[in-house]
Amino acid sequence: MNRKKFIRNIGLGAGVLAFSPIISACSKEEFITNEDFLISLPIPDEINAASFSLSAAKTTTDISKDIRLSGFQINESFPSPTIRKSKGDPVNISFKNEIGQESIIHWHGFIIPPDMDGHPRDAVSSGQNYEYKFTVNQRAGTYWYHPHPDKLTGEQVYKGMAGFYIIEDEEEKALNLPSGKFEIPLLIQDRKVNGSGEIVYNPSRPEKMMTGILGDQILINGGPTPYHEVESSVYRLRLLNGSNARIYNIAFKDNTPYTVIGADGGLLPSPVDTSELLLAPGERADILVDFSKFANNNVKLISKIFEIPSSGGMMGNMMGSGGSEQGTGFSLMEFRIDKSITGAEFSIPEQLSESNFPLRSESSKTRQIRLSMQMMQGHTINGKRFSMNRVDEQVKQGDTEIWEFINETNEPHPMHVHAVQFKVLERSGNRGLIPTEKGWKDTVLVMPDERVQVIMKFTSEKGLYVFHCHNLEHEDSGMMANFEVI
Ligand code: C2O
Ligand code: CU
Ligand code: CU
Repeated sequence: MNRKKFIRNIGLGAGVLAFSPIISACSKEEFITNEDFLISLPIPDEINAASFSLSAAKTTTDISKDIRLSGFQINESFPSPTIRKSKGDPVNISFKNEIGQESIIHWHGFIIPPDMDGHPRDAVSSGQNYEYKFTVNQRAGTYWYHPHPDKLTGEQVYKGMAGFYIIEDEEEKALNLPSGKFEIPLLIQDRKVNGSGEIVYNPSRPEKMMTGILGDQILINGGPTPYHEVESSVYRLRLLNGSNARIYNIAFKDNTPYTVIGADGGLLPSPVDTSELLLAPGERADILVDFSKFANNNVKLISKIFEIPSSGGMMGNMMGSGGSEQGTGFSLMEFRIDKSITGAEFSIPEQLSESNFPLRSESSKTRQIRLSMQMMQGHTINGKRFSMNRVDEQVKQGDTEIWEFINETNEPHPMHVHAVQFKVLERSGNRGLIPTEKGWKDTVLVMPDERVQVIMKFTSEKGLYVFHCHNLEHEDSGMMANFEVI
């Protein structure tokens, strides 16, 4: 194996860091990068048909000359194919499970009936199919799909099952945002590669109970730290954090600012300029990047070093993971700008989309959702681990509620609620709201000791749905609960 890693500023390997709390405390200085950028960015194939199947099977693929993935793929593709539809299009999807364990597909961010949502109790065993038939009647945006069986979600996503589901609508089309080759989906994932170049899913107990799996090999659309050639003009990048546990702080190496135009549930009311943005597992960010603004021809998209705020010391951050800890800096990919080709002028509209966020005054109830760590149990929601048929919360269809996530642990928890899009109202502490939180969200990052309030209106069909932490090792170890719309 010939992976070149350069660790900057302190000159110590990540393996050493795990054993010394003192060094670990300053290890945020480290910056891991694979300087090769040898592989051209893969772009997943698109499906536009009204009826199609998604066939999941065991496969082994070489994702570079050094790295092999023995995993599960949908339609023999890693990442899974991108589904692109217009709002209001009906779809028929036949999910065929041939992976040797039970599975079910969830359409992350969609507001669809409970039996279409991929609740873990709908999982089908290997050799069986699940038929989906639904219409997406919600905002244009960057959504995604992935498996959702109880206790096996982390493994199946890690092994290759996850893809984009892009929804378009008239409101968005009218803006004439960059499209075609100027619109690039980027699925960001980290993996642990073992000594023989294989990606295997084998979480240790501390990884399951505490950090989740943190790898030090970045894959973008399945390509290890790839490169992509662009023209000197404006591009739309649809970012999806499809990692099991790792949070990224999206930036360019030279700190050139970019414009956030969308979040989980589609376009923001108006664009926000920034030079960094936290993106937790499950979250999406839609950004516009003007490549004519960069001084150099080659620019690196990176995850910038960041701190995990925590009063409880560094325990959560330093334990157990064989990859680098949460908050470490990484190179994600390189853009190579051809300065001789300037695209059509594009000016970013001041108004992006109409937003009717629910108001505090419309809320009928505030629910507190406590995220805690229980001896011998791992992470829990309101003191309990997931139980398939127990109803943990009941909400009235049509009601608007405020849910307050209270993090009593040392770990960050990206909290995700099915069958709604919500608005983040406020966050305790110093972080405030980040640019994506100006728009519709279905997943929100709750850092250690934070309280985050979100407001949402339950418009979905009656029935049972889940909410959970999108750190997939947390989810699989029980950090999930049922809510029933009645
Ligand atoms: Cu993306 Cu319940 O998950
Ligand atoms: Cu979801
Ligand atoms: Cu969690």
